Amino acid sequence: MSDPIKTVLAIESSCDETAVAVLRGNATEVEILCSEISSQIEIHREYGGVVPELASRNHSLTLRPLVEQALKNAGITLAEIDCFSATAGPGLASSLLVGHTAAKAMSAATGKPFVSVNHMEGHLLSAFIESKSGRGIEPNIALVVSGGHTMILDTQEFGKYELVGKTLDDAAGEAFDKVAKMLQLPYPGGPEIEKMALTGDPKAYAFPRSMMKKPHYNFSFSGLKTAVLYTLSELNTEDGKASAEQLPDLCASFQEAVIDVLAVKTLKVALAKKAKIITLSGGVSCNSALRQRFQTDCDKHGIQLMVSSPVLSTDNAAMIGYVALQKCLRSEFSDLSEDVNPNLPLNTLVLR
Ligand code: KG4
Ligand code: ZN
Repeated sequence: MSDPIKTVLAIESSCDETAVAVLRGNATEVEILCSEISSQIEIHREYGGVVPELASRNHSLTLRPLVEQALKNAGITLAEIDCFSATAGPGLASSLLVGHTAAKAMSAATGKPFVSVNHMEGHLLSAFIESKSGRGIEPNIALVVSGGHTMILDTQEFGKYELVGKTLDDAAGEAFDKVAKMLQLPYPGGPEIEKMALTGDPKAYAFPRSMMKKPHYNFSFSGLKTAVLYTLSELNTEDGKASAEQLPDLCASFQEAVIDVLAVKTLKVALAKKAKIITLSGGVSCNSALRQRFQTDCDKHGIQLMVSSPVLSTDNAAMIGYVALQKCLRSEFSDLSEDVNPNLPLNTLVLR
């Protein structure tokens, strides 16, 4: 590793995962010294979604022991951290505040700099955390698919992102979660639908692929969601519940429709921009069928596909630490008076 090498501690608390990570590295080589995640999924499952009040309370209960655990697992002391960082948004205000305030407090107590990170920039660059190319962040077309966002970005270098397309209504992950709820599957819906789809026929139901022929790269998933609802009501199900035979086919057909639009549009952008790399990130990119489809499409066109391990695709603090490290290396520090922003806008990404 060539100098300078920095060590950063990162906190992620934007939604229902409390996460702390310690990363060490420079612009081209990064080592995750630890990445701790305390999930609240079990707490929120009985409500069918995240309850903000419960989320923030649990973040404040979990965070301090998790920071201690992270330092222990990383084998370092607080004094060895060069920079403290946390997610500033987008996310739930009361949840963001817990992690953001804690990181600022550690920064104030140690006199080390603080860095605020946009959660979506964390997802966006997560495909490079484990890269062994020695080249760091490379130009790519990125599909970011999470519970709250679906977008295609042209990433030229760190901090230079052009928004090429986005969802005009529901995010892909949100569509997975809402359709799972309709099908009476547990929260979060994405992994449940993927499991069910394994034994289903993706061609059983001809669900719509919205805006495929439109001369832009935006997405819409609300029509697909409604189509599943209508199909379900036409199936004469008992208590609106699909049968054990119908469920796998419904899941497989829905999943295939989502993957189809994501893959076709992303590939179109990549070919139009002559991209050498496509990256996938965000919780939905954990989906194996999605990964396989992209791999096949990329292989066909000689494009390299980069996707992180699934633990770095869903919410985690290592992706926040990775962005913080890039900023720390550039001395792009944040003021301790900086606030969280639940709607931290996309133009922060585009214009920074
Ligand atoms: O990135 P993430 O962990 O949190 C947000 O920033 O939103 O993404 C969570 C979303 C949820 O909607 C979840 O259902 C979806 O990612 N997800 C999946 C899978 N695993 C998580 N969707 C489809 N297939 C999966 N295997
Ligand atoms: Zn996320």
